[in-house]
Amino acid sequence: MQSECAEIQAQLKDRILEITINRPGRKNALTMAMYTAMAGLLNSAATNPDVRVAIITGAEGIFTSGNDLTDFLGGSADGEESPVFQFMSALYHFPKPVVAAVNGPAVGIGTTMLLHCDLSFAGDDAMFQMPFVDLGLCPEYGSSYLLPRIAGHAKASELLLLSKRFSAQEAVEIGICNAAVAPEQAIVRAREAAAELARKAPAALRLTKQLLRRATQEKGLEFIQDEGRYFKERLASDEFKEAAMAFMEKRPADFSKFD
Ligand code: COA
Repeated sequence: MQSECAEIQAQLKDRILEITINRPGRKNALTMAMYTAMAGLLNSAATNPDVRVAIITGAEGIFTSGNDLTDFLGGSADGEESPVFQFMSALYHFPKPVVAAVNGPAVGIGTTMLLHCDLSFAGDDAMFQMPFVDLGLCPEYGSSYLLPRIAGHAKASELLLLSKRFSAQEAVEIGICNAAVAPEQAIVRAREAAAELARKAPAALRLTKQLLRRATQEKGLEFIQDEGRYFKERLASDEFKEAAMAFMEKRPADFSKFD
């Protein structure tokens, strides 16, 4: 299987599709072209009988620093037709197991996408964060629905309202990741789990994934649509512009003038 974008690598081997985010100079920040490539890979893997499992990982010890903030500022990242929506939709509806291997930063959509993966292994060097409030934004792709159900209301509030960073060990305690392992073991464990899944009865696996997701699937979609609308509004807000400019200018954001 071929990726349409040099910064997304794809390898299909032994019925496992491994997708690697590879833009280390920008901490693997995701551009529109990268989302489009990942959406294309997942959509064709969904119906390709040669693929039984997908792995998502990042190159050079980095999962992803999330959406490219320059793209956000350019206003090209919103709406259901957008590449990011297409990618998250492909992941949300992907019928086969998805295993994540996380090292380094997993920020913004880097953490959000883990809520939609089936298994994930994090190196002790991983750093998770959903800094939407710090960016003047709001949760995305069902995280305001799924996170309180996975982590409980108090923890979800801590992670979303305070934009608190958390470690691999905390991600396991919260229930976002399956195991915290030595950094070089994250991809090893993900590949082992994927190989095990690839040997199992494929229809039984797909059905079990569908049943596991059933309780949250319908309501999740409702939240995804509402969050998407609010997120689009937030991207046009002065609060977001201040936060994004502050990041580019390497200074703390100043929200004191907003009400
Ligand atoms: N979008 C665009 N550029 C990004 C980026 C992003 N999401 N994340 C990092 N970069 C760029 C930085 O601007 C920097 O560019 P420079 O070399 O021209 O200065 C380069 O990548 C390296 O990042 P840096 O911040 O120096 O690395 P770090 O190891 O100190 O920190 C992070 C890593 C991920 C913690 C930090 O880059 C970060 O917080 N990024 C923003 C995350 C974010 O808010 N994502 C959007 C969520 S919705």
